[in-house]
Amino acid sequence: MYYPEELVEEIRSRNNIVDVIGSYVRLQKKGSNYMACCPFHNENTPSFSVNPSKQMYYCFGCGAGGNVFTFLMQYESYSFIEALRALAERAGVALPELEYSEEAKRTADLKSRLLAVNRDAAKYYFYQLKSERGKAALEYLKNRALTDDTIRAFGLGYSTKYADDLYKYLKNIGYEDELLRQSGLVTMEEAKGVYDKFWNRVMFPIMDANSRVIAFGGRVMGEGTPKYLNSPETPVFEKSRNLYGLNIAKGQRKGFFLLCEGYMDVISLHQAGFTNAVASLGTSFTAQHARMMARYVKEVLLTYDSDGAGVKAALRAIPILKEAGISARIVSMKPYKDPDEFIKACGPEEYQKRLDHAQNSFFFEVEVLQQDYNLGDPEQKTRFFNEMAKLLLQFPEELERNNYTEALAQKYMISFDSLRKLVNRLGVQLEPSRVAAQTVEREREEGRRRSRPEEGMKKSQRLLLTRLIEEPQAFERVKGIITPEDFTEEFYREVAALAFEEYGKTGNVNPARIINRFESREQQTEAAELFSTQLPAPMDEAQRRREFADTVVRVKQNSLQIQYEKAVEQNDFTALQGIMEKQKGLGKLHSSLNPG
Ligand code: CTP
Ligand code: MN
Repeated sequence: MYYPEELVEEIRSRNNIVDVIGSYVRLQKKGSNYMACCPFHNENTPSFSVNPSKQMYYCFGCGAGGNVFTFLMQYESYSFIEALRALAERAGVALPELEYSEEAKRTADLKSRLLAVNRDAAKYYFYQLKSERGKAALEYLKNRALTDDTIRAFGLGYSTKYADDLYKYLKNIGYEDELLRQSGLVTMEEAKGVYDKFWNRVMFPIMDANSRVIAFGGRVMGEGTPKYLNSPETPVFEKSRNLYGLNIAKGQRKGFFLLCEGYMDVISLHQAGFTNAVASLGTSFTAQHARMMARYVKEVLLTYDSDGAGVKAALRAIPILKEAGISARIVSMKPYKDPDEFIKACGPEEYQKRLDHAQNSFFFEVEVLQQDYNLGDPEQKTRFFNEMAKLLLQFPEELERNNYTEALAQKYMISFDSLRKLVNRLGVQLEPSRVAAQTVEREREEGRRRSRPEEGMKKSQRLLLTRLIEEPQAFERVKGIITPEDFTEEFYREVAALAFEEYGKTGNVNPARIINRFESREQQTEAAELFSTQLPAPMDEAQRRREFADTVVRVKQNSLQIQYEKAVEQNDFTALQGIMEKQKGLGKLHSSLNPG
C-alpha cells in the first residue's frame, strides 16, 4: 500500500458507506440495514444490503461485497488509489505526495504522461475539426448524420493534411520525443524523419471506462485504405481490455449492453438513444471483454454486421459471453449492413422493435447451421438433424435440453421422441464423457461438497470468525484457547490475525477496517462475504452457548489434528505428547465453554 494505513482508515471512516452508496443507489431502510436492488446484477427483488454498523455492503444474490473503497472500485471501475482519492476529496482530507518506489514512479509516471499526451492530442484534433481546415471533415461527419452534441460527446476530431502537424504542436507545448514516440501518435525513423501517424482523417478518441483518452482511431473520409487506422498498443492501451463506449454505457443501468462492431455503430446508437451500446472495435471479442461486461450486466444483445463475417463473429462471441455468465441474444440488422445504417434507414423505433425480437442465441446457432443444408433433400435433412442433435448436447441439464429439443422438434416438424432419442444416442455414442457423464459428475461433485469434511471445517471457521466480529466479547471467551493459527484456511487465518490484532489494540473489531487491509477487490469481496456469513437462526441463550462451544471445539480439534499429522511426519515426539494432551482436554474445554 502506498499510503499509510492510518490515513486510509481515516478516509474510510470519514465516508459513511450509507451516504456514499446512497448517492448511487436508492437505499431503503429495513431494520438495522439498508436494502436495494443490486447495482451489480440484474434483479427485481432487493438482495443488496448495506450495513451501517459494519460499514459494509454485501449482495446475497451475486456475492458482491466490501467496504466503501470496494464499492467505488466495483461501481466506477476505479483502482484502489483512484477510489481513495475520490473519497479523500469527498471528505475533504488532503492526501500527501506519494512516496513511490523508483520503479513504481517510472511506470505510473509514464502512464500518466501518456494519458496527458493523448488528452492534448484529442483537444488538438477537436480544435482542428472546428477550424477552417477541418471543414471537409466536419462536412463528412454531418453527412453521416452526426449532430454537434454527438460530436462533442465523443470528442471527434480531425487530423490535418500536414505530415507532422500534431508532432509540432505537442513538441511545442513541451512533450519530449521519446514520450511522443511511445504514445504511438508519432513515428520516428532515421531515414524518413518524424511523421504523425494520422493525417487527413476524422479522428475517434478511444476512452477507457473512466473517460480518459487512451488511443485513437482515424477514418479516411470516403473511400481509401486502410479505412480505419488505429493507435498501436501502448502502456495505456490494451485492445483486448477496452470497449468503446463503455465509459457512457456503464452508467446506464438498463440491465443489458448492446454489443456492436464499430465506432460508427456505437455513436449512431448512442445518438438514437441507445446509450448502452459498446464495441470491441475490429479486434475480436475476448474473454477479458466479456468479464468487463459481466461487472455491469448479465445480458448482452449482439448487434453485429449482418454479413457473413458478422455472423461468424457472433457465433464466436456467444460461448465467450456464456463462459462469463452472460446470456446473449442476437439482433438482426437485415437487410441493412450494420446498426448505423439500420438506424439511418429505419429510425430508433424500428431498431427498438428489432431489440424486442432479439433471438435466443441457441436458436440463432441452429438457424446458421441450417443454412448449410437443403431440407428438401432427405439425406441432407438427416445430416442436419444429426448436427442439430449435437448442438443440443451443449445443455447438460436434462430439463433444459428437453425444452430446447421440444422447441426444435416443433419448428422442424419432427416428433419430440425421435429427436430426443437421437440426442441421447449421440450423447452416448459420440461424447460419452459429455452429457451423461457431465450430469453424473456434477451430482457427484455436489454430494462430495455437501459431505466433504473440509467444507464443514471451513464453515465452522467462518462461523467462528463471524461470531467474533459480531460479538467482540467472544474474544474474551476464546482467550488462551483459539489463536489465529487455529484457522487452517489460509485466507481466514489472515483475516483472523488482523481481527485478533485489532481486538488486542482497541477492544473492538471493525469489519470495514479489516477489509481496508486488503488491496485487491477480490480479497475485499471475499472478506465481506466472510463477515456476512449468516449466523444460525436466533436461539435462546443456552442453545447459543452450546453452538458456540461446538464451533470452538471443532475448530480447535481440526487444528490439533493438523498439528498432530505434522508432528508425526517430523517424528517430533515431544510435540506429539503436548498435542495429545490437548486433544484429551477437548471434552473439558467444551464443558468449560458450555457449563451446566
Ligand atoms: N476496423 C479497423 N480497421 C479497418 C477496418 C475496420 O480497425 N481497416 C475496425 C473499426 O473499429 C471499425 C470496425 O472494425 O469501426 C468495423 O469495421 P467496418 O464494419 O468495416 O466499418 P464500420 O464500423 O461500418 O465503419 P463505417 O461505417 O465508417 O464504414
Ligand atoms: Mn458502418
